[in-house]
Amino acid sequence: MADTRPIGVFDSGIGGLTVLREIWNVLPGESTIYFGDNARAPYGNKSRSTVIRYSLQNMKFLESKDVKMIVIACNTASAYAYDTLKDRSGVPVVEVVTPGAEATVRATRNGKIGIIGTKATISTGVYRQAVESCALKHGIKNIEIYQKTCPLFVPLAEEGWWDNDIARLTAKEYLTPLKEAGIDTLVMACTHYPLLAKVIAETMGEGITLVNTGEAAASVVREMLSKDGKTAEGNGAPKREFYTSDEPMMFENVAAPFLGEGLPSGTGHFSTDRYEVEI
Ligand code: DGL
Repeated sequence: MADTRPIGVFDSGIGGLTVLREIWNVLPGESTIYFGDNARAPYGNKSRSTVIRYSLQNMKFLESKDVKMIVIACNTASAYAYDTLKDRSGVPVVEVVTPGAEATVRATRNGKIGIIGTKATISTGVYRQAVESCALKHGIKNIEIYQKTCPLFVPLAEEGWWDNDIARLTAKEYLTPLKEAGIDTLVMACTHYPLLAKVIAETMGEGITLVNTGEAAASVVREMLSKDGKTAEGNGAPKREFYTSDEPMMFENVAAPFLGEGLPSGTGHFSTDRYEVEI
C-alpha cells in the first residue's frame, strides 16, 4: 500500500537543500518537510553533545509532523548524531556519510581519496572510517586518504559567492595540497559544498571525480522506501513544506538558489529548542 506521509529532512540551515534537491530528482512524487536550524547554525564548529542535542530536537519536530523517514542532510549531524537518532527514532533514519563513502570508493581508480568537510566532520574521523570500511568490503586495498577542513566554503555558499575570485582563491588555498597528493576522487563531505562544485572542479583540474553526498543519500532513500514498500506511488499531489528556526523571509531568500528553482512561499517558523531531550 502506498505511504503518502512526507519524508522529513533536516540540516543546520540551508546546506541540506542540496540533498533535498537530489531527493526531489529521484523521487518527484514524494512529499517532503524540510527543517533548517538556521538560528543555531553552523553546527560544524559545535561540540558533539550540542550537535546531538540539536539533532534530537530536530528529529522530534519532524516526528511531530508524522514523517515516514528522517534524512539527516548534514554531514556534521550525521557524523555526531546518527547512532543516537537511529536508536531513538520511531521511523527509519538516513544519513549522508555512508552513502557518500560508498560512492567515493566506487569512483576511485588510483585509491587516492580526498575528503573535505567542516572541522567537526573531519575531526570525528567518521568519514575516514566509512571510506576504509567500504574499501575493505569491496576488497580494495592500498587506499590513501587525504583530509582537509574547508570552513570558509560554508559562508561563501551562503553568501552566494560560488563563482568569483574570492571563491577561487579560497579553493586554491584549501585544495592545492590535495591536488599535489595526486587524488583522483574528492568527496564533498559537507552539504554546502556542492554549491561551489564548479570552482572546486576547476581548481582540482581534469580527471578528478567530485562526489556529492546528497546524490548518494537520495539513492539510499529511494532504495529504502521501495524495499519497505513505503513509496508514495504517485498517490495525490506531493507537498513540499519548509520550516526554519530563524526568520522565514531570510531563509527563503538564501534558499532559492540552492534549490535551483523558486521556493514556495509560506516557510514556517519553529524553534526546536523548546523540546526537552536527554543525551
Ligand atoms: N551543512 C553542514 C554539513 O554538512 C555544514 C554547515 C554547518 O557547519 O552547519 O556539515
